[in-house]
Amino acid sequence: MEKRDDTTDVVRIFDTTLRDGEQSPGATMNVEEKLAIARQLEELGVDVIEAGFAASSDGDFAAVQAVAAALTAPVVLSLSRTKEADIVRAARAVEKARNPGIHVFIATSDIHLKHKLMMSREQVLEAAGWAVDLAKKHVGHVEFSAEDASRSDPEYLCSVFAEAIRMGATVCNVPDTTGYAIPEQLQALFAHLKTNVPGGDRVTWSTHNHNDLGMAVANSLAAVRGGARQVECTINGIGERAGNTSMEEVVMALDTRRDYFALSTNIRTEQIYRASRLLTQVTGIAVPINKPVVGENAFAHEAGIHQDGVLKHKLNYEIMKPEKIGRPSNSLVLGKHSGRAAFVDRLKTLGLFQPELDVNKAFAAFKALADRKKNVYDEDLVAIVAEESTRVPNSYELLSLEASSTTDGTPQARLKVRIGDRETEASATGAGVVDATYAALAQAVERFGSRVPQLERYAVKAITGGTDAQGEVSCLLRDGDTVAIGQGAHTDIIMASALAYLAAVNKLEYLRTYRPVDSEHGP
Ligand code: KIV
Ligand code: ZN
Repeated sequence: MEKRDDTTDVVRIFDTTLRDGEQSPGATMNVEEKLAIARQLEELGVDVIEAGFAASSDGDFAAVQAVAAALTAPVVLSLSRTKEADIVRAARAVEKARNPGIHVFIATSDIHLKHKLMMSREQVLEAAGWAVDLAKKHVGHVEFSAEDASRSDPEYLCSVFAEAIRMGATVCNVPDTTGYAIPEQLQALFAHLKTNVPGGDRVTWSTHNHNDLGMAVANSLAAVRGGARQVECTINGIGERAGNTSMEEVVMALDTRRDYFALSTNIRTEQIYRASRLLTQVTGIAVPINKPVVGENAFAHEAGIHQDGVLKHKLNYEIMKPEKIGRPSNSLVLGKHSGRAAFVDRLKTLGLFQPELDVNKAFAAFKALADRKKNVYDEDLVAIVAEESTRVPNSYELLSLEASSTTDGTPQARLKVRIGDRETEASATGAGVVDATYAALAQAVERFGSRVPQLERYAVKAITGGTDAQGEVSCLLRDGDTVAIGQGAHTDIIMASALAYLAAVNKLEYLRTYRPVDSEHGP
């Protein structure tokens, strides 16, 4: 029998970065990238990982399967509609997990019943119970979600949850699918469900919030006050539209205000910053500079009066310490004469040293960077490790690039690209060197027989200060309805731009291979 923990002082963290998070436009991840994120989530200590929606595409199925086989501590589950084929596929995808789970959902609001499902309340209630019963035949851990719960009739919601519990659900999730809820209302809804749903004292109540009105974290914390003991969230708050509850914000709120909540999580907070950086690297979705906890300015004190106060005593203006989330101090650490032992030692200090990391490759990348750049900072090491741990045998690889620009001449670029054992050269001119490089890359992509994507967004930022800093470029490419974001880091921003472009092209290729099975998937 599963441990009942809705009355304990521990709030379980359910991470859905790989499922709901991946529904952010352009945030597609391939199997290797999902695996790297999942390993980091295990390092973080999350209790449950939603690894994907196995029935939605072959790619999602493969990713859930790979994550299930690789992890030992957390529950690994797959999302599933209340359909037999979905449940069977989810069960197959998680069968190698040490702690497998299935997450069944169906909408319960009248608006969804009438305009999306075209089902009656009775039919939805029956489908919910039937699906939980079937899922329970495959795994012990079955979560049931009432999609659009915050806009559903509370009394009907009680009967659907009661039926799900009767059929064996161990976790009941109450999603605010559209980001419509208000904290006080959500707190009251949880208190109502907990006392009025028959069997409600036997399950863990879970909260799942979207950020359309900027209240996802506040709503999650209010739900916890109402009795929820599981929070569903994503790293950096990525997700559909305005995103989901941000894991680092909710965890650090519970940690920093333990005096108020008297609750804890199993999260190793020192791993938060690395998780945030890794996700940015993989998805190319940058974190706003003023984002709480992980944003660039989250611990920066600019005003003289604040700086003075912090120098006198940190607690004057700091409610949490950057070290607590594993944020490097950006101190100068290594240079081109530093050896392997010093490199490994620094990785260990920063919590970046992990069994799956190919240290030889990471060290070679560090040496190459130290040759180009005088000072290598902790931030650079975070970027190197993130890149090494998500490196995949790419279909497109940049072999060489030569780009030039003069005051009166036309900017031009010449480059060589490889796919497998085929190579091609291309050259082009453009309005600037980046434009010329992208035109040459587009030619190369076309020569290999692929459709040339449209560039929709291009952004560059420096990882650290100084003119020799590594530039981090992210670009968004579109091919019809499909979008992909690529990311590249290099001391030369033209190189970083080319790497970002090819990373996005590789993701588009991946998406062409693993198209969703049907368009009805996705909550
Ligand atoms: O937002 C939502 O309702 C969901 C459910 C599937 C949990 O993501
Ligand atoms: Zn959601």
